[in-house]
Amino acid sequence: MTTIIDGNAIGDRIRSELEGEVERLHDAGVIPGLATVLMSDDPASETYVSMKQRACENIGINGIHREIEPDAPEDALFDELDDLNADPSVHGILVQMPVPDQVDTDAVLEYVDPAKDVDGFHPANVGRLVAGRARFKPATPHGVQRLLQASDVETEGADVVIVGRSDIVGKPMANLLIQKGPLGNATVTVCHSRTKDLAAKTKQADIVIVAVGYPGIVDGSMLRDGVVVIDVGVNRVEANNERGYKLVGDVDFESAKEKASAITPVPGGVGPMTITMLLWNTVKAAGHLEDIEIELP
Ligand code: GUN
Repeated sequence: MTTIIDGNAIGDRIRSELEGEVERLHDAGVIPGLATVLMSDDPASETYVSMKQRACENIGINGIHREIEPDAPEDALFDELDDLNADPSVHGILVQMPVPDQVDTDAVLEYVDPAKDVDGFHPANVGRLVAGRARFKPATPHGVQRLLQASDVETEGADVVIVGRSDIVGKPMANLLIQKGPLGNATVTVCHSRTKDLAAKTKQADIVIVAVGYPGIVDGSMLRDGVVVIDVGVNRVEANNERGYKLVGDVDFESAKEKASAITPVPGGVGPMTITMLLWNTVKAAGHLEDIEIELP
């Protein structure tokens, strides 16, 4: 029997725990605030940002949304970030990626106040994560860790193969899983576009985590029996329905399910966890900035 890991249910459980911490902040007179900044007219980015805003409102976090014309100069974004960095009612800031070509992504990531960097993408926060002293664990890899924990999948001593080496998922995922301690202690291999024989690597794995943005890059023939499969990919592919598209992951779900002891679906697997862990980081940021003790690791 293959377990289909239900990210909606696990995310709901964590969100209800978070609500207790939000209440503690409210009782102390603090409304946690998360600012999202969108400089794009990509429909997928627009959808992600509005989902993040809705999730904020649902648990008592004040959502602040700023939009910047995609063809505006880079300085328009920096001016906005100056305001948000200085605004005491804003505890978390998220610039939805990707930003347009005229904007230097690295400069943007370095511009956000590290204490408000709920994505965990500022170099100071990346360094803390690598050193095992993370303040903000990036939301998607942290969400994957919590999915594994909630599904009783042991990472200690496990052979984990991560497919994808992005700054947002692959790299922080590897760093989290090799940390000493609970949710870590794994032996991690990171595969990417120059990996010689991907299937030879994935076939050795106890846990396969795929995050490349390429539908079907991993299928059942590349997996061993009993593997746990985490599919981070979200891809729009053409479909004969009202919207004209459907969402699929990076893993060929049907063939992988035949091999897996547990697998995440797309949608409804990792996606809801990303939003939940962003809220988690916002609550942590508010506690830290307002000097209120928050019970979140
Ligand atoms: N674009 C895709 N994933 C993410 C994310 O986790 N954070 C931000 N800011 N942008 C993204």
